Amino acid sequence: MLMNAKLLELYQQQIKNEFESAYIYLGMAAYFETTPFHGFAQWMHIQAKEETEHAMRLFRHVCDRGHQVELRPIAGQKTAYGSPLEAFKESLAHERLVTQEIHEMYRTAVTLEDFPAQVELQWFINEQVEEERNVQDMIDKIAAAEDRFPAMLAIDRIAGQRDE
Ligand code: FEO
Repeated sequence: MLMNAKLLELYQQQIKNEFESAYIYLGMAAYFETTPFHGFAQWMHIQAKEETEHAMRLFRHVCDRGHQVELRPIAGQKTAYGSPLEAFKESLAHERLVTQEIHEMYRTAVTLEDFPAQVELQWFINEQVEEERNVQDMIDKIAAAEDRFPAMLAIDRIAGQRDE
């Protein structure tokens, strides 16, 4: 069942966006690897892996709908941040942007009465609620630590236990 050209274009773009997200999180992982906070680095590595999985879900849907996937260029990303809090705040801003992108896709799928895309995108809508909550949770913990090193290490240890 082929997709309308407008929705297909949003899918192609979002495949790129999700791979770019993976790259952003790898940049954050690279930053944390240079700090004492290797648990945060692990958290970012897991996040980067999840973003690749998001891209591949969209990739699968485009193929299943009978279209050819395009792999568009992704931008280079920075690997330096001013502080752990700055990195996680940028992560939240990025996730909010992704949420808007997913909502725009869903809005389009509803307008076009593309029911398979609606069902598929509902997974992403729920996923974004979780993504934003996870990052906000890290920001709240880090902000409460107020740069006290033992507290930061305790949070880092928790972050390092993330496995999915
Ligand atoms: Fe794929 Fe973090 O949104």
